[in-house]
Amino acid sequence: MEGGGQHPAPAAPPGQPQGERLQLLLRRSREAKNCAYCPYSRFPVGAALLTAGGEIFSGCNVENACYSLGVCAERTAIQKAISEGHTSFRAMAITSDLGDSFIVPCGACRQVMREFGTDWDIYLTKADGTYIIKRLEELLPLSFGPEDLKKV
Ligand code: THU
Repeated sequence: MEGGGQHPAPAAPPGQPQGERLQLLLRRSREAKNCAYCPYSRFPVGAALLTAGGEIFSGCNVENACYSLGVCAERTAIQKAISEGHTSFRAMAITSDLGDSFIVPCGACRQVMREFGTDWDIYLTKADGTYIIKRLEELLPLSFGPEDLKKV
């Protein structure tokens, strides 16, 4: 069953999406992957971001003939959400075609995610729909964020 493989069934901590909401988040990240514009890498990625208010914003990677201008799926989703007024996030699901390993966000995306807090959850999936959950703090320990600018 989708989402059943790597994650034990018992109750999720408060704040984590569950049941149909979680399945929708995972599905939206898969659907976004199908929109990936990645003619250079041929490595499609989809992301779906769940806001504190329960809305979902999805994104895909968008590459460019000027390679360095390519944007990852995670940042596309965050930029869509921010530009529509959402700055508080509960979770993000990330999907790729990798079958043998869980897709992980690049370092740049981890830092962009971190801008919006360290206590939210990232669902890293495999192509078969199984997933593991990582707190953003785990993906980017000892991180630098907006609060640090206020310490001087
Ligand atoms: N990519 C993402 O969109 N997200 C990830 O988590 C890893 C990598 C994209 C960037 C580029 O378009 C392609 O995958 C290959 O690196």
